[in-house]
Amino acid sequence: MEKKNLDWSNLGFGYMKTDKRYVSNYAHGAWDEGGLIDDDMIVMSEDAGVLQYSQSVFEGLKAYTTQDGHIVCFRPDLNASRMADSARRLEIPVFPEDRFVDAVVETVRGNAAWVPPYGTGASLYIRPYTFGISPVIGVKPAENYQFRIFTTPVGPYFKGGAKPIRVKISDFDRAAPRGTGNIKAGLNYAMSLHAIVTAHNEGFAENIYLDPATRTKIEETGGANIIFVDRDDNLVVCKSDSILPSITRRSLVYVAEHYLHMNVVEREVYLEEVENENFKECGLCGTAAVISPIGAINDHGKEIVLPSGMDSMGPVMQELYDTLTGIQYGRIEAPEGWIKVIE
Ligand code: PLP
Ligand code: COI
Repeated sequence: MEKKNLDWSNLGFGYMKTDKRYVSNYAHGAWDEGGLIDDDMIVMSEDAGVLQYSQSVFEGLKAYTTQDGHIVCFRPDLNASRMADSARRLEIPVFPEDRFVDAVVETVRGNAAWVPPYGTGASLYIRPYTFGISPVIGVKPAENYQFRIFTTPVGPYFKGGAKPIRVKISDFDRAAPRGTGNIKAGLNYAMSLHAIVTAHNEGFAENIYLDPATRTKIEETGGANIIFVDRDDNLVVCKSDSILPSITRRSLVYVAEHYLHMNVVEREVYLEEVENENFKECGLCGTAAVISPIGAINDHGKEIVLPSGMDSMGPVMQELYDTLTGIQYGRIEAPEGWIKVIE
């Protein structure tokens, strides 16, 4: 199979139309058999549930070319189960989890020419999503749905790759207590758009959202969880019911404990602790972000520069990054069941 002629090492995090996408339709209470198609356009009612009441959920995962030339993806079963949780919360019928994984495999196979070669630092981003496609005018769930997957080759989420970023404490809230912050629904991201444009206009790469009830605890950013290294070299991860259960974060907790023999503490993290310089390192983690180091956090004009600084990733984040990406690119042996070989 001949690869596409792209400048793989200089890709940003953008959309590019690839050859195939997967589609399955839900009608009369059942999903059809589904399959790959060429057409990237979707025609739907002007009154579709997704258009009127934002009834949509999505996932994000990546396919990689490993050192020994296989195409693999990382823990797709966890994306399948998280998408099922998201769907249930928005009254969307669940696309069966085993079919989800099979559909990911089929879509990546159909776009194998778009999977970046090993050594370029790039990967194929996979975007599964489900949305209400039939008309609704009273506030209620749609009757018919579409499950789709597209792929797009991507490089780093933040310009500059692993360079530390500056983030701000947002004045906006992202997710209410007992709301939808713990699922991957498009509506959460719509909520964050004005906040991210505001942050970018002020020169910040991202927002840190606080817990909306007390505005004293660190939650997450618009597209990643947050991890810290404290003064005793523990990995500290934020615990909250209103953040997305990141697959990258859960994997890093395992990597820290079992590969790097670190102590991991999962707990509520107060903004005050950041201000009191309790942490040596801080980073964002997620499928798109991988690990992106945070160099400085700005709280309403007060700039808190992490001891790891603005020049490079701190040593613990670097070890976590090297081990996780080593597992994903096949340089380091993965825990049982983490790597799904596609071809
Ligand atoms: N938090 C939010 C809001 C996200 O959009 C993402 C991205 O998926 C994450 C966290 C990280 O989750 P994961 O590691 O499963 O990609
Ligand atoms: C992902 O990491 O997969 C996401 O969905 C985050 C998004 C901001 C690109």
